[in-house]
Amino acid sequence: MGWPSHAPVLRDLTFSIAPGAHVGLVGPNGAGKTSLFHTIAGVLPAQAGAVLVQGRAVVPGQFRPETALVFQQAEDQLFCPTLIEDICFGPRNLGLSDAEIRARADDALALCGLTGLEDRPVHHLSGGEKRRACIAGALVMRPELMLLDEPSAALDMRQRRRLIALLQGIGQALLIASHDLELVLELCPRVIVIDQGRMCADGPAREVLGDAQLMAAHGQEVPHSLTPHDSAGHVHVKNAP
Ligand SMILES: Nc1ncnc2c1ncn2[C@@H]1O[C@H](COP(=O)(O)OP(=O)(O)O)[C@@H](O)[C@H]1O
Ligand SMILES: [Mg+2]
Repeated sequence: MGWPSHAPVLRDLTFSIAPGAHVGLVGPNGAGKTSLFHTIAGVLPAQAGAVLVQGRAVVPGQFRPETALVFQQAEDQLFCPTLIEDICFGPRNLGLSDAEIRARADDALALCGLTGLEDRPVHHLSGGEKRRACIAGALVMRPELMLLDEPSAALDMRQRRRLIALLQGIGQALLIASHDLELVLELCPRVIVIDQGRMCADGPAREVLGDAQLMAAHGQEVPHSLTPHDSAGHVHVKNAP
């Protein structure tokens, strides 16, 4: 896949995600994580190969409510004057009744801790609220797969913890692109590493993220919680098995 007038960005990438699985997507800046999300979501065309969601090929531009992309920049996603209008925008395209749209919106807002902010202009939400508003806007579609692009970027510790708790409770499949490897470890039993648009690893999170050589080769560090420590102080044990 590639951007218009740009060399191909993604190559030799094959993987599948089971229903309800939470998978981390790790790779340095420019690795192709966002491009991959745009390809899966049908925003960018694949020049070769195919993306299947629930067994059906994704056709660029075609509305596929089974997949929901949560943008890295909340401002790229939220565009209606008020929160409730933003949350209801997607479901209106599903042809649901007003009552069903409102019921879904109320559920999504409650799950994301945004009840009471319905009439707030989106630009008056805090960073953490904006991030949760983006997730609510995805959840309201009741997707099978949610693609989250750097969801913890620029969140403070409390908001980050709140985000983790929220995502932990989500039953749908999640593909989470993040440099926050501790978040990935908490949420994702499986991790995929990509670099220069290619697949570098796909396996159990602790194995993949704990592989110092692999991490270093792709501009990452083994997360602190996987670094062996001595018991007395806070000394990192070198060359521990
Ligand atoms: N809108 C765009 N137009 C052209 N090239 C782009 C665009 N967005 C990203 N790219 C290129 O695609 C490659 C992968 O970038 P990206 O998918 O944003 O990586 P990541 O999300 O892993 O940081 C980079 O070489 C980048 O320059
Ligand atoms: Mg990106």
